[in-house]
Amino acid sequence: MKSSGRRNTAMSILKEFEEKCATPIGKLRQVADAMTAEMHAGLASEGGSSMFKMLNSHVDNLPSGDENGLFYALDLGGTNFRVLRVQLGGRDGCVVKQEFTEVSVPHELMTSATSSELFDFIAKELARFIDTEGEGFILPPGSQRELGFTFSFPVKQLSIASGNLIKWTKGFSIDDAVGKDVVVELTKALDRQGIDMRVAALVNDTIGTLAGGKYLNNDVAAAVILGTGTNAAYVERAHAIPKSGEMVINMEWGNFWSSHLPVTEYDQALDQDSLSVGEQIFEKIISGMYLGDIVRRVLCKMAEEAVFFGDIVPPKLKTPFTLRTPEMSAIHHDTSANLRVVERKLKDIFGITGTSLETRRVIVDVCNIVATRGARLSAAGILGILKKMGKDTVKEGDKQRTVIAVDGGLFEHYTEFRSCLESTLSELLGDEVARTVVIEHANDGSGTGAALLAACHSQYPKVEES
Ligand code: GLC
Repeated sequence: MKSSGRRNTAMSILKEFEEKCATPIGKLRQVADAMTAEMHAGLASEGGSSMFKMLNSHVDNLPSGDENGLFYALDLGGTNFRVLRVQLGGRDGCVVKQEFTEVSVPHELMTSATSSELFDFIAKELARFIDTEGEGFILPPGSQRELGFTFSFPVKQLSIASGNLIKWTKGFSIDDAVGKDVVVELTKALDRQGIDMRVAALVNDTIGTLAGGKYLNNDVAAAVILGTGTNAAYVERAHAIPKSGEMVINMEWGNFWSSHLPVTEYDQALDQDSLSVGEQIFEKIISGMYLGDIVRRVLCKMAEEAVFFGDIVPPKLKTPFTLRTPEMSAIHHDTSANLRVVERKLKDIFGITGTSLETRRVIVDVCNIVATRGARLSAAGILGILKKMGKDTVKEGDKQRTVIAVDGGLFEHYTEFRSCLESTLSELLGDEVARTVVIEHANDGSGTGAALLAACHSQYPKVEES
């Protein structure tokens, strides 16, 4: 029978994909061990030649809660950037007032512009935002506005407020910015706009999230971003730094690769078509920028080889990135009888109509396989960090909790992803240790965190009111 032959073929593509994506617990442990080993290697290799950059953030004092005054933050790291201002209350560790605006970055500025064009665009938006500063925000006379700049790309920091861009990730590619100090570039753009503002801290979003998380909860020891891209930061003991004995490391774990990773033909094709072939492999199988496109590639193969959507392959199915991860999430979470959400999404995104319920079920399965693999591998990555910090076991009498602050749209909005990550981490840790490790959503920790770090590194010491 022709039709069951076709169905079998789609089913066999599905089955093979599922097998290749499998993440049994033993494999996750191997991934975690490889992660820990790479962390050691990255710390040992000074020149950053290792797979993990393990970048020193030059943050040696995390917020204490005493920070006070008006601070700005600028958060660039994906298709949107945010500008915010925060009035910090000091002593009791409170944010008195906070306002922000969000602007989408035009696609051509991400790829075909010059560094000054990108920074001019940002500075113009910042100028507009500063103009709206109103009641409740107090700039002491004689001081200058200060800014925490969250720049979520790999940067070799030279100090807390300077650092050279190592490479772009997440679809950005502005060649003339690579190797340059992004604070100098931003400051030049601020000057061109006539903005009187000092960049007090340059931070990665993981570092901002760690700082923002620690401000609210002193047990925060690591931060993970699961959004457009993925990355992690943690507090490393650094005996060489007498002042605090700690340093905060931006791992750039998106660049992780191990032979234990379940990489499929679809991932390989996605990588080959990307702007960074052979790089950011962990990120390409986990993060929000890519998950939807992996699903699209599997569906495309089903259409081409198993006549999954009828005799012709819907043209939009062949176009990269037509299926975005939020849409994939909506498909995955469809609980309606007959999968009506899936039906509507197929029509809206690909112009596909007339699918059977069985076909729509297969599509949900593909989403489930891709999200499950990403979530389980993220949990393995977190286990790798816990091992490095010696927090994967419970020591006699040690009651301290280890909190991991997590932020990013994928974690925040993709419920199945998030709950799979949490349950996998518990499974990996076992009940006793799992009780001491807490995953906490740090809502926009990175913006507030950057403002806090600007406060920690302010040029204008604040006089405590008594
Ligand atoms: C990419 C960037 C990294 C960032 C992460 C999450 O991996 O290289 O710096 O932290 O995305 O935004």
